[in-house]
Amino acid sequence: MLKTICYISDSSEYESIESIKKIYLKAKQNNLKRNITGVLIFHNGNFLQVLEGVEEHVDLTYDKIRFDTRHRNIIKVINNTIEQRIFEDYNFGFSIVKSSQEFNELNEYLNWLKQADNKVANKVILMVENFIGVLT
Ligand SMILES: Cc1cc2nc3c(=O)[nH]c(=O)nc-3n(C[C@H](O)[C@H](O)[C@H](O)COP(=O)(O)O)c2cc1C
Repeated sequence: MLKTICYISDSSEYESIESIKKIYLKAKQNNLKRNITGVLIFHNGNFLQVLEGVEEHVDLTYDKIRFDTRHRNIIKVINNTIEQRIFEDYNFGFSIVKSSQEFNELNEYLNWLKQADNKVANKVILMVENFIGVLT
């Protein structure tokens, strides 16, 4: 069964681009192995991440992530089974978004996704849009 988890968190201390890159590379490497897709957004000290994939893999990955001391105040916002992935086609499946150009690209992708009119997808879209909207 496929599921998606979406959470928001605060980074523990001021994260340099180098340390974000390290998190991203590790995430990408692990997620590729476990066929987890999604998006990782970092902005103004906050993370928003969407994970999607086979239930066991997503839950195990989230369990590792939530005990990572590089972030705190982790709030799981979405925890749903899904029929299909929504980030499969997005930028090689897993992406970190930190520049305004990347935000714009993500926005365009989300607007395109809205056509699908899928309930969980719309929840995720709303979350990501609010996150981007509040933080930019
Ligand atoms: C904000 C944030 C997002 C992360 N996202 C992922 C992720 O998507 N996948 C992943 O495997 N690890 C992710 N990590 C890293 C994990 O917390 C953990 O360090 C890593 O999975 C350990 O991998 P290993 O068991 O291969 O050593 C993330 C860490 C942080 C702080």
